[in-house]
Amino acid sequence: MTASLVALILLLFTAFASGGRTKLDWRTEYSDSSDGICNLMVVTQGYTCEEHRVTTKDGYILSMQRIPTGRTGGGNNGGAKPPVLLQHGLMSDAMTWLSNSPAESLGFILADNGFDVWLASVRGTTYSTGHTSLTPDDPEYWNWSWDELVAYDLPSTFQYVYNQTGHKLHYVGHSLGTLMAFGAFSRNEVSDIVRSAALLSPIAYMGQMPSPLARAAADSFIAEDLYWLGLNEFDPGGGAASKLVAEVCTKINCTDLESVITGPNCCMNTSKSNLDHQQPTATKNMVHLAQMIRRGTIAMYDYDDEGENKKHYGQSSPPEYNITSIPNNLPIFLGYGGKDLLSDVNDVQTLIDTLSDHDPDKIVLQYTEEYAHLDFVYGINAKEVVYNPLIAFFNLN
Ligand SMILES: *[C@@H]1O[C@H](CO)[C@@H](O)[C@H](O)[C@H]1NC(C)=O
Ligand SMILES: *[C@@H]1O[C@H](CO)[C@@H](O)[C@H](O)[C@H]1NC(C)=O
Ligand SMILES: *[C@@H]1O[C@H](CO)[C@@H](O)[C@H](O)[C@H]1NC(C)=O
Ligand SMILES: *[C@@H]1O[C@H](CO)[C@@H](O)[C@H](O)[C@H]1NC(C)=O
Ligand SMILES: *[C@@H]1O[C@H](CO)[C@@H](O)[C@H](O)[C@H]1NC(C)=O
Repeated sequence: MTASLVALILLLFTAFASGGRTKLDWRTEYSDSSDGICNLMVVTQGYTCEEHRVTTKDGYILSMQRIPTGRTGGGNNGGAKPPVLLQHGLMSDAMTWLSNSPAESLGFILADNGFDVWLASVRGTTYSTGHTSLTPDDPEYWNWSWDELVAYDLPSTFQYVYNQTGHKLHYVGHSLGTLMAFGAFSRNEVSDIVRSAALLSPIAYMGQMPSPLARAAADSFIAEDLYWLGLNEFDPGGGAASKLVAEVCTKINCTDLESVITGPNCCMNTSKSNLDHQQPTATKNMVHLAQMIRRGTIAMYDYDDEGENKKHYGQSSPPEYNITSIPNNLPIFLGYGGKDLLSDVNDVQTLIDTLSDHDPDKIVLQYTEEYAHLDFVYGINAKEVVYNPLIAFFNLN
């Protein structure tokens, strides 16, 4: 499989994962919190909500939302509630955790269960487009992959919540949000302030991702068509993406493309037309993910040039993230599904094998046979299937 084909799969996934739902115009300035996520999604449901901002060490200004109390109130008890940080997946943002009803969405469920809930959105997404010196129209603004999310975004949001609350954090990641955690934990970025981590649709090794779609894509494209390297925004609703999708849809039945790519999600609310809104990411991030799928490794971005790699890393190939160096006593909850085509069971098994030295009583495996990738965040029964066990895990750690 070529890197481009793999990137195409990711593209198709993201283009269709939200099935024609509205894409917000990220170029709009959200400087006023009145049009932020709090007022759009949280206050409307009867919860209190605070808008926060954190600046990363490389200058990106990220929005965060805090839901300090549940609907039944009770006050913040001077910060005595355990904080939990929620990190969304690829081409999504904090709205992921708020899309269903309060009884179904993890962001609200955690608040109602006594947690101090913090939602993060990575650089480049609608509510996190700020930067101390760049704008999204500058190519340099998009000069990052998930290495930078590991090195800057995740530590900044962790540290910010710790600073605000004075308590170690529980963490929930979905998809890319799990990869960010594996990277950061393996580098000991936040070891001293993380309390436990629940990782849903975990993505670390991607070498065994099932590939029927890759073959269809292979028939349609040559690598040069997909030569989108260079520093750019990767907009899933943009012209290049649409053209590619249109072409591939002449070969496969796109009516059910969401299932073809993410797996047959069993449990999403089909009457929702606006579950999610697609978010741009960096082209470099897509290329980096493609490298992982092609190689099955979890390494830093490969410049595909020994000299460039030497310049950046002091060695001719990119350094690998050492998953076994994740502290063995960090409580980890892995929620994965039998039908998830992006977090494939075989890849998850490779991850579990890699964690074989982890303290057995510090790792919980929550396998759901009928779940695919998006069920973990949008499943209408996710509370019973995943979130209740997840909350029980947090309460024990
Ligand atoms: C992109 O970032 C790297 C560091 O990660 C830097 O070496 C390079 O000069 C940057 N390129 C541009 C065009 O900003
Ligand atoms: C957290 O607090 C420390 C000490 O006051 C400060 O140096 C650091 O910038 C803060 N970090 C964040 C992300 O708020
Ligand atoms: C495409 O899939 C849909 C639903 O899966 C089905 O109803 C439709 O008949 C299919 N179209 C073709 C041309 O196979
Ligand atoms: C599905 O979404 C619709 C529209 O938001 C809502 O009215 C309905 O109650 C939801 N169904 C379930 C089972 O959550
Ligand atoms: C990875 O981390 C483990 C545990 O800290 C260590 O024993 C091992 O040597 C490391 N591997 C590499 C390749 O650095």
